[in-house]
Amino acid sequence: MRAIILAGGSGSRLYPLSKVSSKQLQAVYDKPMIYYPLTVLIAAGIREFCIITTPHDRPRFEALLGDGTQWGIAIEYRTQPKPEGIGQAFLIAEDFVAGEHVVLMLGDNIFFGGDAFPRAISEFRSGAAIFAYQVKHPQQYGVVEFDRDGKAISIEEKPQEPRSNFAVPGVYIYDDRVVDIAKTIRPSTRGELEITDINRAYLQLGDLHVRRLNRGFVWLDAGTSSTLQEASAYIETVERRQGVKLGCPEEAALVRGFLSLERFREVLAHIPACEYRDYLVEVAAEAERHRR
Ligand code: DAU
Repeated sequence: MRAIILAGGSGSRLYPLSKVSSKQLQAVYDKPMIYYPLTVLIAAGIREFCIITTPHDRPRFEALLGDGTQWGIAIEYRTQPKPEGIGQAFLIAEDFVAGEHVVLMLGDNIFFGGDAFPRAISEFRSGAAIFAYQVKHPQQYGVVEFDRDGKAISIEEKPQEPRSNFAVPGVYIYDDRVVDIAKTIRPSTRGELEITDINRAYLQLGDLHVRRLNRGFVWLDAGTSSTLQEASAYIETVERRQGVKLGCPEEAALVRGFLSLERFREVLAHIPACEYRDYLVEVAAEAERHRR
């Protein structure tokens, strides 16, 4: 399984913060936003990444994340000149998908809790797997409707009159047909290739599998100044209370076995003295204790 993280878009809802820095590079408490989706995917066992950014922001993403070797992964970059829709990711990254299964994650979606994603990824065989999460205001999302047996029967993008309270979070798993399906869909009235239209195509093929995320699961969307602030406050609360960090790719890579403890220590040596480094020193000490 390969992964695409979509980190383009205009970021207009974050203006003026987004005037000089991409939305997905903004700080969410103590880390750049993109660290969170990246960490979730590393924790799910993914090693091959394609990050799609705007041409303007690409050098900054490359400076931050490099080619991924520091985390035992491989990162490629592609650019999206204009925000013409989430579905365009598969046209831009067609050569990256190259006949493999692929997970697409939106760079401004933040998830914590449970093993829903690693399970869905390891159990994925074919078709499309998406998730459903109960929200109070589904109007601003893709919305999925279920029949009495819990089978998905409709999916709509930002409906004014939603048929359910189940929103579709920004993580989608597809088989290799997704590229051809993306080529057949047409731009919506807002001029975008909608991810919901791709999901509807799989629904019509009888191959859309929707997994419900349970109550304890946390999904935060950090697309506006207030939700960005809420996400930062949430992460600070959890990190202070538990003494662990969320969204730490080094730690996820160590736990997943992408980095040996020796290599982890080498990576650590390149990080300047700071709280983040202090935390990683503790992680290394803990891993050493478990090794004995
Ligand atoms: O957050 C989940 C929701 O994301 C889904 O429920 C919706 O079905 C889906 O359409 C999407 O809705 P949004 O209105 O939140 O999408 P937005 O335009 O804000 O884009 C989400 C992220 O993707 C954002 O970080 C920018 C990036 N993006 C978006 C577009 C349209 C791109 O990189 N390129 C694009 O062309």
